Amino acid sequence: MKEGQPTAIQLKDYQVPPFLISETALRIELGEGVTHVTARLKMRRNPESEQQGTPLVLDGAGMELQSVAIDERQLNSNEYGVTDENLTLYDLPGEFLLETTVAIKPQHNTALEGLYKSGDMFCTQCEAEGFRNITYYLDRPDVMSRFKTTIVADKDKYPILLSNGNDVARGETTHGQHWVTWEDPFMKPAYLFALVAGDLQHIEAEFVTCSGRKIKLQIFTEPANIDKLDHAMASLQHAMAWDERVYGREYDLDIFMIVAVDSFNMGAMENKGLNIFNTSCVLARPDTTTDKAYQRVEGVVAHEYFHNWSGNRVTCRDWFQLSLKEGFTVFRDQGFSADMGSATVCRVEGVRTLRDSQFPEDAGPMAHPIRPESYIEINNFYTTTVYEKGAEVVRMIHTLLGAKRFRKGTDLYFERHDGQAVTTDDFVNAMEDANAVDLSQFKNWYSQAGTPELKVDSTYNQSEATYTLSVRQSCEPSPGQQSKQPYQIPFSVGLLDASGGDMAVEIDAEEVSSIDRGDSHCTFVLNVTRPKQDFVFNNVPEEPVPSLLRGFSAPVKLVYDYSRDDLMFLMRHDADGFNRWEAGQRLAVAVIQDMVMQIQAGHAPAVDDKLISTCSAVLEQSREPGVDREMIADMLTLPSEGYLAELAEIADVDAIHRARELVRSEISVQLRKQLLSIYKQNSSNKPYAATGEDIARRALKNLCLSYLMQTGSAEVIALAVAQCESADNMTDVSSAIRALVDCPAEDARQPKEHALKSFYDKWRHEPLVIDQWFSIQALCPLPETLDRVEALLTHAAFDNKVPNRLRALVASFTRNVVNFHDTSGRGYRFLADSVIELNSINPILASRILNPLTRWHKYDARRQQLMRHELERILAIDDLSKDVFEIASKSV
Ligand code: BES
Ligand code: ZN
Repeated sequence: MKEGQPTAIQLKDYQVPPFLISETALRIELGEGVTHVTARLKMRRNPESEQQGTPLVLDGAGMELQSVAIDERQLNSNEYGVTDENLTLYDLPGEFLLETTVAIKPQHNTALEGLYKSGDMFCTQCEAEGFRNITYYLDRPDVMSRFKTTIVADKDKYPILLSNGNDVARGETTHGQHWVTWEDPFMKPAYLFALVAGDLQHIEAEFVTCSGRKIKLQIFTEPANIDKLDHAMASLQHAMAWDERVYGREYDLDIFMIVAVDSFNMGAMENKGLNIFNTSCVLARPDTTTDKAYQRVEGVVAHEYFHNWSGNRVTCRDWFQLSLKEGFTVFRDQGFSADMGSATVCRVEGVRTLRDSQFPEDAGPMAHPIRPESYIEINNFYTTTVYEKGAEVVRMIHTLLGAKRFRKGTDLYFERHDGQAVTTDDFVNAMEDANAVDLSQFKNWYSQAGTPELKVDSTYNQSEATYTLSVRQSCEPSPGQQSKQPYQIPFSVGLLDASGGDMAVEIDAEEVSSIDRGDSHCTFVLNVTRPKQDFVFNNVPEEPVPSLLRGFSAPVKLVYDYSRDDLMFLMRHDADGFNRWEAGQRLAVAVIQDMVMQIQAGHAPAVDDKLISTCSAVLEQSREPGVDREMIADMLTLPSEGYLAELAEIADVDAIHRARELVRSEISVQLRKQLLSIYKQNSSNKPYAATGEDIARRALKNLCLSYLMQTGSAEVIALAVAQCESADNMTDVSSAIRALVDCPAEDARQPKEHALKSFYDKWRHEPLVIDQWFSIQALCPLPETLDRVEALLTHAAFDNKVPNRLRALVASFTRNVVNFHDTSGRGYRFLADSVIELNSINPILASRILNPLTRWHKYDARRQQLMRHELERILAIDDLSKDVFEIASKSV
């Protein structure tokens, strides 16, 4: 690290901005050598600020200041101060016009923050603090301004010039230049500013809002991808209609644009009226895009669109409030996806990501509350905690209040705070005020880190016909938080009778938030508030099997001593779809954990027959008409190695891998006939459609294929090869290649190399397909993978300046549990080398891919030592970015 240690920003130090900017007029002259940015800012002192006499300190970095003027008078260099990070102005009147001109070089901006080039296109990314790389400004979300932007550029190279709002004027100048002026009528913080310039094509459609206004919708891309935009457009229209129907939110501008760019650090960005998307989150065509990617496009388009209200119209006061917009908007996009497809499958997906990545984060050195108290680099706090746990917290409010009252709360929130920059407290207060409830204890979810544990015991009293659930909550210490206050936890439960139906029993009303009684189900939302609490059900005729934490009603670890027979019973009968899946996962976890212990004790591990017969029964259910086959595929997917590692105190990577693979082989061998028959039953010659039914069918078919390939007979290898060669869609092609690549059988060696080569030759002009090609190879669990991955670093198609390529190869490899954690330490070294190289190219990405090394405490002494050694090696390099420094230093 140079210049000593970077300092942390604290939530408790928040102060209102000392100055305000009512109008922002930008003139941006794009050039290949240098780009000039002139900003005219109408400024005044903030009457609410306590710092009335202070100088004006503007944010600004990586630019060359060319002129400064106040009220049209040029300042001399002794009238202002410039450092690496600021421009300071003294002796200012109460109100003034500030004009600055700076020179920047977007073509050298590999960090992809601010104004940069993606291929031949200019584009911007300003969240969280990228605007300060474009011009001097008060780059903080509570400074909102009206923007007017003029873009000037070469007309041939950049025929399309876009920014936020409406285009109000355009013209041509000499030397082949042209210009366009955009005006955004809505006040916004600088992080929502956007600019795009390039040789782009677009598709166009219309949306008529609930009040009858016609909105022009446009999606832009480089010409080669013009045939991959229809799915995103349909998704956008669905999202707009959904937000009107479910939240009563209408779009405000007359135009909504999306631009697809190749080089982008994140998935997509909600800039006002001009969303910018990573191509991976917008492009879709059946032969290049998998079903999963189709669903991701739909979800991301919706997410960014929903931000127009939850984020843009009502924005964040400061970056500690990030979950205000992100947690809430993830909750909103999850609700949308649930309504577009299978709600249970969506919930399973959501809980999987939560457990596979958020729970580990919450148990590690980087654990933080969804509203953090301090940060060194805000880019490091776009975390799965702020996003996914943040969404769970909003979901709990929804569960506690019920859909109707939750909507009253959001209506009040949007109405009360429209045009403001607010806090998570404002959000919860609106929920309280709209419904006359007290959520003060609930607010602990915003301030405390760590995953609470719920330990549940049950007792049945036959003579009194009562059934008692004793619930104890606790939460482990996390960095800076030794002891925790109890949480308010909505704990959804049902009680199953011997026939598998829900019992409609009685309970004292004080203890429950709500009871949902339907024809075929009865769910109680128990209101857990104390460290230890008993819930007594009355008139219970027989001892029930409890279905606990239905729908995963709270982001907690549930501990209850289920027998394997109970779990099998719940898998068959539970009225709650999520808990049918969960019971299967618990059963598989129990079986695999047993096997891990056998392996550790030096015994030959044996697979519990109950698990195999249960899988067989579940497979058979897929033949029933009307059944959700995607759910069946989910139920047959074993818990990931990552999750199994997480459940262990110290993860025995090799034993977990061996045990899990053995279960897979056993299923493959014992259920071979059935798997083959279901594979065939779910194959189809119909042309591709991304409908729920077809997606489900392909998911089940390809799951069968992956099990079958575990044993890799000549017949099955031929099946995979045939699927690879004849399928008309990327879902089937990539599943088949993955199955071949992962197949341990010697006979698969030649076909897999052949398949990889022809896949590459066919798709080498489609970057997003090549990403899949990299990722499939990086995720292969076979032993030679790291050699292959290292060789791929020098492949002509690899480029570590393009985040998608880097993620496809390097980040994918870190999810390859056995290979990444190889006891030689090679996997760790490989990652650290990448981080070090990337540190000076793209610090945001460098620090994001570093994440897996921070989990060292989960592994044995030898691995811990190897992982920490790599963290130390990273910390020792010169010019370490703040981003990487924060993650590495907090985790060694
Ligand atoms: N506002 C973010 C994008 C962002 C994040 C920009 C961090 C700059 C720094 C956007 O709304 C977002 O959350 N995008 C997600 C996808 C979404 C579906 C959760 C992303 O980019 O991964
Ligand atoms: Zn977002």
